[in-house]
Amino acid sequence: MRGRLRWGLRARLVVAFVAVAMLGAVLTTVYSSVSLTSHLADSARTRLQNSATHFGDVAAVVSNRGRWDLQSIQTMHHLAQIDFLAVHLYDSNGQPVFTHPPSGPVQPGAAASAPVMVGGRQIGRVTVSRDDGRLFTEEEIQLRQQLIRMHVIAGATSAAIALAAALYLAVTLSRPLRRIRAGAEAMGAGDLDTRVPESGDDEIRAVAEALNGLAETLQQEEGLRKESVADLAHELRTPVMGLLARVEAAQDGVLADETANLAAMHDEALRLTGLLDDLSALAEAERPGLLLSAQEVDLAAIAVMQVAVFADSFAEKGIALSSDADMAIVYGEPKRLEQIVVNLLSNALRYTDAGGRVSIAVRTAGDDAVLEVADTGIGISAEDVPHVFTRFWRGEKSRSRATGGAGIGLSIVKELVRAHGGHVSVESVPGGGSVFRVLIPQSARPHTF
Ligand SMILES: Nc1ncnc2c1ncn2[C@@H]1O[C@H](COP(=O)(O)OP(=O)(O)OP(=O)(O)O)[C@@H](O)[C@H]1O
Ligand SMILES: [Mg+2]
Repeated sequence: MRGRLRWGLRARLVVAFVAVAMLGAVLTTVYSSVSLTSHLADSARTRLQNSATHFGDVAAVVSNRGRWDLQSIQTMHHLAQIDFLAVHLYDSNGQPVFTHPPSGPVQPGAAASAPVMVGGRQIGRVTVSRDDGRLFTEEEIQLRQQLIRMHVIAGATSAAIALAAALYLAVTLSRPLRRIRAGAEAMGAGDLDTRVPESGDDEIRAVAEALNGLAETLQQEEGLRKESVADLAHELRTPVMGLLARVEAAQDGVLADETANLAAMHDEALRLTGLLDDLSALAEAERPGLLLSAQEVDLAAIAVMQVAVFADSFAEKGIALSSDADMAIVYGEPKRLEQIVVNLLSNALRYTDAGGRVSIAVRTAGDDAVLEVADTGIGISAEDVPHVFTRFWRGEKSRSRATGGAGIGLSIVKELVRAHGGHVSVESVPGGGSVFRVLIPQSARPHTF
């Protein structure tokens, strides 16, 4: 793993940089060599053609009406030697008159010919090539080779510079990456206090920030988990201790009223069952694929039904309960939606004192169905608001109230609303009441949850 990161990044950078440098050098070499060769070939052919025309003129001047004597042939021979040329002269019948042949075979395209004209009449033809049969002079061939050599040197130099640049980049890039990896490994090993330095280039810094954010979240989750276990133990202990105490009292034969004792034990057992029901409801709500049997449901109908169910409890406690519900169709599971309403209404009932008012409203707003449960109860302080949806969290005030629950109701609400693709929020004034607002997308067609 260690080797793979180091060599992977370095090797890739080095190969990319060096390959680009080499490719540039090779392309420049090929391109300039091809264009230089074609340029040199053009001028060599022009030069040969000029020589052929020139020899045609000479052959015309030294001819005697289409015939050449020994002296004129010698003149041409000298001229050909001076210019390092191989020359063939043919008369008007195509018969060779004079030849000064090349020392080697003539390369294709390395010869030129011109007519020998006297008084507007062609009396022969000359063919000219270089006396070594090649198109290029020695200097031209060397020029080409030197150019290729220079390109090879330039290519090697740029590849070496690219190599150095790639190594430098790889080192500066992999150093912060190694630090981040070390941090991630420490977090993976359970040290969630570790933070990686948030420095370096933007991308590296963003990764470091994301990793630190992840560690923070994990740390919070871990803290929450520990608290949850402690809270759960505490919640379970209270009724179990009550039960134990009564059972032991019965065993010791110090029970005054057996019937009252049994009723109290029954209450404790009911409290335990309630808690277990809440826990399994929460586990259910967090399960993926919760809404397998979802359908179109009118949220208003569910709210109105629950108002009827709760009416007696509110009346008993002396709290006015009112509802204002307009049809709002959502795609969901009626039982789960009902649970949302029940949990919010039971909180309003629990945290509102006699003489208070609770109202439930359902309406539509934009693309959403809105469910609001408002009370004039004890309210929630600003610093407690962010915690109310956390499982097992209970406000100090509610803890001190005899009626306090386990702190699971709103976590269930939050999970169920989320499963319906919605969002729940709360606005509250300590001592002045709270409004819990649930937004669920209105829908005539299924969501993907
Ligand atoms: N309507 C409300 N008014 C004031 N405080 C509230 C209200 N609803 C919830 N809270 C606060 O939020 C906390 C969490 O609520 P939640 O419903 O999750 O738990 P609970 O009511 O204490 O117990 P449970 O619902 O599990 O029986 C409550 O303990 C209380 O402090
Ligand atoms: Mg509750």
